[in-house]
Amino acid sequence: MEKTKIILDCDPGHDDAVAIILAGKNPAIDLLGITVVSGNQTLDKTVRNALNVTQYLGIDVPVFAGCSEPMVRKKITAGDIHGESGLDGPVFPPLERKAEPEHAVNFIIRTLMESDGDITVVTTGPMTNLAMAMRMEPKIVSKIKRIVLMGGAYTNGNVTPAAEFNIVADAEAAYVCFTSNVPITMVGLDVTRLALCYPEIVDRMGKIENRASKLFVDLMRHFCKSQKETFGWEGGPLHDPVTIAYLIDPSVLEVKPMNVQIDIRSTQSYGRTNCDRFDYLHLPHTADVATDLDVERFWNIIEENIRLYD
Ligand code: BDR
Ligand code: CA
Repeated sequence: MEKTKIILDCDPGHDDAVAIILAGKNPAIDLLGITVVSGNQTLDKTVRNALNVTQYLGIDVPVFAGCSEPMVRKKITAGDIHGESGLDGPVFPPLERKAEPEHAVNFIIRTLMESDGDITVVTTGPMTNLAMAMRMEPKIVSKIKRIVLMGGAYTNGNVTPAAEFNIVADAEAAYVCFTSNVPITMVGLDVTRLALCYPEIVDRMGKIENRASKLFVDLMRHFCKSQKETFGWEGGPLHDPVTIAYLIDPSVLEVKPMNVQIDIRSTQSYGRTNCDRFDYLHLPHTADVATDLDVERFWNIIEENIRLYD
């Protein structure tokens, strides 16, 4: 089977950590590197979390620290959902792993430039690292096979009525990526809000009884609690792993090509992904936008991948 080569750019984050679980061992995925950005917490914390997760699960993939600040706007984080550490809940053994000396942006540029144009870049955090890489070395644009991002919404946002966290946290970076002409699959809140991790799901994964299942349970207990306190929901939406699940099995999502524009100008709607779902504007389609999720298949993919660990 030909593997899908990916770079995972993330800001762990509970749901980012589950995306790492999926990408770390699946035989259909060749995870070339994990690049980390400031997002759910500050960069020092998100890098530490990526190192802890990979060390704990024995995922032997290099981790690169990237941008600690957005391109233009002031930094925001999501400590209300992900806690003070950015990954509250699990207790990890002493951390021995270190991030690579190379900056994430340089790793992205180098890896893409040395490639045959067969690498998919998956972003599950603000798109700062990828946008910076595109600005530093515009030649990478034609080398990216596809961007698959968790971000945006054509329905409501989750930070403002208009905007979703990963986009609003660095809307200018998203603008750079969405105007790059690279093929894009946008996995937004419209579908990730269907991936609700109810207590039954936590129990189901807990029964597997290996390292990954223990981590999943420890992560989800905290994540679901903060979702309940913040939004009143029983089950937290597991946004980020939908991207990797889609690369493992594209049938998990329905997508529709749309013209998508990132609002970086307005006050009320800053960070909105304006998706022309009904083609009102008759403009070129710039992204495949996810419109439905096969929820049962998604949880089966999560289970199958947790089972791949010791
Ligand atoms: C996104 O924001 C972050 O808090 C999550 O990790 C996810 O990437 C959802 O809006
Ligand atoms: Ca994330």
